[in-house]
Amino acid sequence: MTEPGNQPDDPGEQATVTSRNLFDKFEPLMQERNRLLDSGIRDPFAIVMDEVKSPTEAIIDGRNTILLGTYNYMGMTFDPDVIAAGKDALDRFGSGTTGSRVLNGTYCGHMEVEQALKEFYAMDHAMVFSTGYQANLGIISTLAGKGDYVILDADSHASIYDGCFLGNAETVRFRHNNVENLAKRLERLPREAGKLVVLEGVYSMLGDIAPLDEMIPLAKQHGAMVLVDEAHSMGFFGENGRGVAEAQGVIDQVDFIIGTFSKSVGTVGGFCVSNHAKTEFLRLVCRPYTFTASLPPSVVATAATSIRKLMHAGDKRAHLWENSKRLHKGLRDLGFRLATDEAESAILAVLLDDQEQAVRMWQALLEHGLYVNMARPPATPSGVYLLRCSLCAEHSSEQVDEILAMFEAAGRATGAIG
Ligand SMILES: Cc1ncc(COP(=O)(O)O)c(C=O)c1O
Repeated sequence: MTEPGNQPDDPGEQATVTSRNLFDKFEPLMQERNRLLDSGIRDPFAIVMDEVKSPTEAIIDGRNTILLGTYNYMGMTFDPDVIAAGKDALDRFGSGTTGSRVLNGTYCGHMEVEQALKEFYAMDHAMVFSTGYQANLGIISTLAGKGDYVILDADSHASIYDGCFLGNAETVRFRHNNVENLAKRLERLPREAGKLVVLEGVYSMLGDIAPLDEMIPLAKQHGAMVLVDEAHSMGFFGENGRGVAEAQGVIDQVDFIIGTFSKSVGTVGGFCVSNHAKTEFLRLVCRPYTFTASLPPSVVATAATSIRKLMHAGDKRAHLWENSKRLHKGLRDLGFRLATDEAESAILAVLLDDQEQAVRMWQALLEHGLYVNMARPPATPSGVYLLRCSLCAEHSSEQVDEILAMFEAAGRATGAIG
């Protein structure tokens, strides 16, 4: 069948023009998806939260549900000070800026959140983007252009890959978290070429952390600049919550840290912080920064308040680690396979045999009142199907025990555990 959008405007042309339907390439995926939905599975990618009661609880399908599939690591979304700051900014500055940062979209709130970031990271420069995706897209594509090299982990986030495509740099991938492979790739590059090594602190599919303390000095020996995406580590890694590079003692060697407000900060937005004086110039030449509207005043106000509170969140950090370790041990004791031998971050990936088992397990958990993320290739590495659990500092120990009971019941019902 021809899709209406693909037909020529002039019916007279129909006899001569036979163009390929642009939707055809999605056909295998659509068929696989339809097969799954026809077998009575709830669509894992169409979950609606009808009401959100707290960082850890929502109403889904009319049922009280524990949230174990958000990135609300530090539970800041319902913090009273954060909410008050957002309401106040909404009243004082209106609902949106309707403009780009470089023309008409910089309010005092944008300056204030950049100041909060500079203090949080103890760095000289901060540039706020509308999302973390745009921060990676913008910084990578602007720094590394035609003739330059971006050296990246094969399991990098889509925004990192897209930044490479947009900048048109040569992309060189190394095996996930493999220091020897990174060394080999770096040795083969022309000495005089511009090089940017891009790493992540925590890899979000498996919840494993990068050996930044080995990789960053190696990159520096080869004359590369280093960008670290700390999206999933901000707030609870390192003494000051600055991320894995801080926890491993190499933050001083990082050229650019990329982060997001959509995880531990609890709102939306992205950023780059750096000590390079020329960072400020990027504002004028970075297309994903310049050619889009800036964040609404209420969002930057909530972000600034949240970031300042995260500077003093030692207790929350400690409880989040406790939760993660407790859940990891409990799941292993029940007989589940996990992607990491120990809890390395707030993300725990439960590995399942195949798509069928993963989806059935995911649905059984939802019916018991637990929401986790189902992830599948190509989003996951090595073709694995998994249930991704992400913990929050606001989960109580009792909730973690409830979560384990639900995993046990769902695992036995679906045959995922014996
Ligand atoms: C590693 C990484 N970088 C960047 C992003 C993009 O963040 P944002 O949601 O702010 O666009 C994500 C989002 O999941 C991520 O996992």
